[in-house]
Amino acid sequence: MISAHPKHIAIIMDGNGRWAKARHLPRLAGHNAGAKAVERTLKAARKYGIAFITLYAFSSENWSRPQEEIDGLMKLLSKTLQDYTKTAAKENIRLWVSGEREPLPPALLTQIDEAIAATAQNTGLTVNLALNYGARQEITHAINAAIAAGEKDISPDTLRRYFYHPDLPDPELIIRTSGEERLSNFLLWQAAYSEFYFTPVLWPDFDETEFEKALAAYQNRSRRFGGI
Ligand code: FPP
Repeated sequence: MISAHPKHIAIIMDGNGRWAKARHLPRLAGHNAGAKAVERTLKAARKYGIAFITLYAFSSENWSRPQEEIDGLMKLLSKTLQDYTKTAAKENIRLWVSGEREPLPPALLTQIDEAIAATAQNTGLTVNLALNYGARQEITHAINAAIAAGEKDISPDTLRRYFYHPDLPDPELIIRTSGEERLSNFLLWQAAYSEFYFTPVLWPDFDETEFEKALAAYQNRSRRFGGI
């Protein structure tokens, strides 16, 4: 059965550190190269008419990295956001963010809020940045919010209404680069029926060709959703 292109692709962008290490460069050089791969990937996603793309930019667990790397990543995110705001306006891209605000730097939060507001009316690709994101945190956040709202007898559909973005469709395809084959607390709920695509390619080397390979692999999968 040939499936249409996925509506939502989620990506675990892994391998920046190993890419840098192989070149005797600091880890941040790997993240910088990773930001360029993000740009290429978003271009490819637009070309193929993908509606939503979620990028795992910083996990709730990434705070355990050395402070220098955390600071560098926050700076890079801020710079990328700044550069990308112009592209977003031109290319009709909408920015969403999934994750907890605390303890992200206040200046970055302001910048994010402005970018979200500035792109809210755009109708092209939605780029959902998973930032300070953890799936267990998202699920427990939703349970607490549902209880606070007075919900009784919570069903899966009720809970979904309290996720960071209730209107974000489940990803049909989840890509992880760098040869690791695990979810690492990413979209645990939403991944119930996702197809997984793992590639040994390190994130900074990911490009349109690799994106096309992932799409082709997806199209060869037979999705049955528990049926036959
Ligand atoms: C994983 O590689 C990557 C990250 C924790 C950060 C992802 C960030 C970027 C791709 C940079 C910019 C992002 C955006 C959205 C502009 P790793 O450091 O865990 O690599 P390793 O496993 O080889 O050490």
